Amino acid sequence: MAQVLRHLPAIKDPNVLVDAATRDDAAVYRIAPDRALVATVDFFTPIVDDAATWGAIAAANALSDVYAMGGRPLFALNLVGWPRDTLPFELLGEVLKGAAEVTRQAECLLLGGHSIDDPEPKFGLVVLGDVHPDRMFTVAAARPGDRLVLTKPLGTGILTTALKRDLLPEAALAAAVSNMLTLNAGAARAALAAGVRCATDITGFGLLGHLTNILQASGVGARVQWNKLPLLEGAVELAARGAVPGGTRRNYQAIEADWAEELSEPERLLAVDAQTSGGLLLAVPPARLDFLLAALHNEATPVAVDIGEILPKPQLLRVVRS
Ligand code: CO
Ligand code: CO
Repeated sequence: MAQVLRHLPAIKDPNVLVDAATRDDAAVYRIAPDRALVATVDFFTPIVDDAATWGAIAAANALSDVYAMGGRPLFALNLVGWPRDTLPFELLGEVLKGAAEVTRQAECLLLGGHSIDDPEPKFGLVVLGDVHPDRMFTVAAARPGDRLVLTKPLGTGILTTALKRDLLPEAALAAAVSNMLTLNAGAARAALAAGVRCATDITGFGLLGHLTNILQASGVGARVQWNKLPLLEGAVELAARGAVPGGTRRNYQAIEADWAEELSEPERLLAVDAQTSGGLLLAVPPARLDFLLAALHNEATPVAVDIGEILPKPQLLRVVRS
């Protein structure tokens, strides 16, 4: 996608606060001195068997990009690709119901959408939100010394792939599903309260891929402590047994990291595992770290872990054991 986005025309409108150039989570457009619109779109093919759960995860995932900008979702539109000849419409009804339940939780109105006939089912949402221009998060605001904090465990790509390959019963996916269903709303509220300015959410490029976006946009480096990474139970073992999504393998090939030698390949794969509806990755000045961790704890985010720090050296990405 990044390669394709290069071909978009360069933008000079002063009201465009965030465009495709920084690889941020959403576009941001100022409509008043104290108000900007946040716009994002996300859709994908089924990742779990249950239709309503798939719809709900897709909604949480789409909303997440608004939270990753420090925004508040206002309303959303459904995007549907559906094989009308082979799958019953009632099943699509389940998908939409699952999504509507999550947008309701987010206090985000569902105002419409569009569907097309498609041999492979696809579902997602366009989400519009708003944010105060002075308080929005971007990937370009990390500073040397900032601590890196993650709000959900890693491994959903590996676990959902294990399910597809019959290496894991669907019940064993419960922890991964509950994490994917958790809105990043609370994490964003905590980060706003802590004065965080730099954030992104962990999705298809994995932790290190999305961290690399921060490093490039902010002109800094980072050191990640592998032992501190919160991981879904069984994920390393399943990666070792080959339950690795194509996207995760591509991330591993693409990432330019200085890995501690003793880290095994399955361990490294967790740090680049393609996530769906992953947590927020926040960069916070060290003086505000304790406040942030306490605020995340109050919001009951799945985890709240300090996993490393921002370094002054541009684009250096070092992954150490501890
Ligand atoms: Co994102
Ligand atoms: Co996105």
